[in-house]
Amino acid sequence: MNKALRETVIAGNWKMNKTRPEAALLIEELKNTAAGAGCEVVICVPYTDLETAVSLTKGTGIKVGAENCHFKDSGAYTGEISALMLAEMGVEYVVIGHSERRQYFAETDLTVNRRTKAALNAGLKPIVCVGEMLAEREDLITEDVVELQTTAALTGISAKDAENIIIAYEPVWAIGTGKTATDEQAEEVCAFIRKVVENKYGKDIAEGMTIQYGGSMNPKNAAGLLAKENIDGGLIGGASLNASDFGIIIKAASGGL
Ligand code: 13P
Repeated sequence: MNKALRETVIAGNWKMNKTRPEAALLIEELKNTAAGAGCEVVICVPYTDLETAVSLTKGTGIKVGAENCHFKDSGAYTGEISALMLAEMGVEYVVIGHSERRQYFAETDLTVNRRTKAALNAGLKPIVCVGEMLAEREDLITEDVVELQTTAALTGISAKDAENIIIAYEPVWAIGTGKTATDEQAEEVCAFIRKVVENKYGKDIAEGMTIQYGGSMNPKNAAGLLAKENIDGGLIGGASLNASDFGIIIKAASGGL
């Protein structure tokens, strides 16, 4: 299988942005672009916007994701939301192990793995984030870090379930900084991640897996990144908060439609 046969997924990660009225406005603005998209379009939104997003995207082709989920179905976990709760309300995707969760909320490879399994069990498609810090890149251990994070996240997950996983390569130094990895840097690590997946599950699963790039992807750099053989879409923060910018990225992923 090659890039043309893999699913390209452009996912917005709104992070902690947009009240419900703001969310509604942005979704309305996105509808037209998404209607003509030649790729899967996903918006991952704060919990408080999920109901609005699920309801307003019905029939539009835009899919809705959450930004995290807990690994238990229910119980005494104040402040947490389970994968089952998300699936029940019509959510289809969930971001797992974003570097902001790892950095600020003590997320570990172990909890990333447990949350990924919970998401799969609930029928959600996890977007599992991996990526090195600046110091790690400078120490030339990017591949070691990314391999560890990827294999840890996939521990105990069957090949069949792995078919529903998206991996997002997000170098931490490129997130929200305006510093994008070059097309070549991003391609090199995404290709390496595909090798790690191949070592675990074999060529077919690895070749079929959607691997995204994330980190300051914007209307100017998206086309170059998305043209790379091993980059099957993007996980977009800042630029997904603006319909026109996100729309340009969707068009770039749709072959410049
Ligand atoms: P930015 O696009 O704002 O750099 O954020 C990337 C990201 O963290 C997406 O998950």
